[in-house]
Amino acid sequence: MATLRSLRVEALQDSLMAWAARSRRDLPWRRTRDPWAVLVSELMLQQTQVARVVPRYEAFLVEFPTPAATAAAPVASVVRAWAGLGYNRRAVNLHRAAGEIVERHGGALPVTLPELVALAGVGPYTARAVLAFAFEADVGVVEVNSARVLARAAAGRPLSRGEAQALADELVPAGAGWAWNQAMLDLGAAVCTKTAPRCQSCPVRACCAWASCGAPEPDPAVGSAGAGRRQSTFAGSDRQGRGRLVDALRRGPVAQTAWADAAGWPADPDRAARAAAGLVADGLAVLAGAELRLPT
Ligand code: ADE
Repeated sequence: MATLRSLRVEALQDSLMAWAARSRRDLPWRRTRDPWAVLVSELMLQQTQVARVVPRYEAFLVEFPTPAATAAAPVASVVRAWAGLGYNRRAVNLHRAAGEIVERHGGALPVTLPELVALAGVGPYTARAVLAFAFEADVGVVEVNSARVLARAAAGRPLSRGEAQALADELVPAGAGWAWNQAMLDLGAAVCTKTAPRCQSCPVRACCAWASCGAPEPDPAVGSAGAGRRQSTFAGSDRQGRGRLVDALRRGPVAQTAWADAAGWPADPDRAARAAAGLVADGLAVLAGAELRLPT
């Protein structure tokens, strides 16, 4: 016999899937099942807005269409193609992952979670995204947007990491892993937003655990696993200086005497030197004499 819970899960699945069939965003990485393209898109999307990723994703894949092509190219060229996306360490990791895919898996992305998470820069989120979005597996993808939907609509309370993943996995309608996860992401991005969620126009409102009890404070998504913390301020941060230094390195080597200006800290050469050392430690730069340059 159907339990109340299973009825609510079915209602959530049916209403979200019906909404997705009408409202799914047409995004370039949704037109492919190529695992490499999906991996590239998911790494780009991890910390960067969709609108910023779209043009760079397509250009990147023209230059680096396969793991083998990427592994054979200098890491500097991958870092150059990453321009405008930020968090440049992801480019270094992607180059490393490409090498691992060639060495360990003959150039094709592996199809199991343990093999995917063993790749450089690939965590449990990215691995499951590849499983769902490239291999159409029935696994739950928990990222900031879907984590909010899980906490609010499905659970009605904050979730631990393990609970969020278990619930995400349980909710996937059989055989619909691709469409379901894209729908969860879209609902979180467009309707079940972090602040001022659009509950009035939400397709799952009738079966939302939070809305059905009047959407009381505190918001169950706050403090729920994967739903994200406040981003630290970028302006004036170390990350901003590092990003400026990498931007300068994309144009060519930077002499030590120019690091402080390049980082945007003309009066603080010590801070610029620390940023440079951090880039070297992360594999984003090498020191050649008193010159910093992208690694070859
Ligand atoms: N963010 C992370 N993965 C995404 C996807 N497949 N579509 C839209 N936004 C995303």
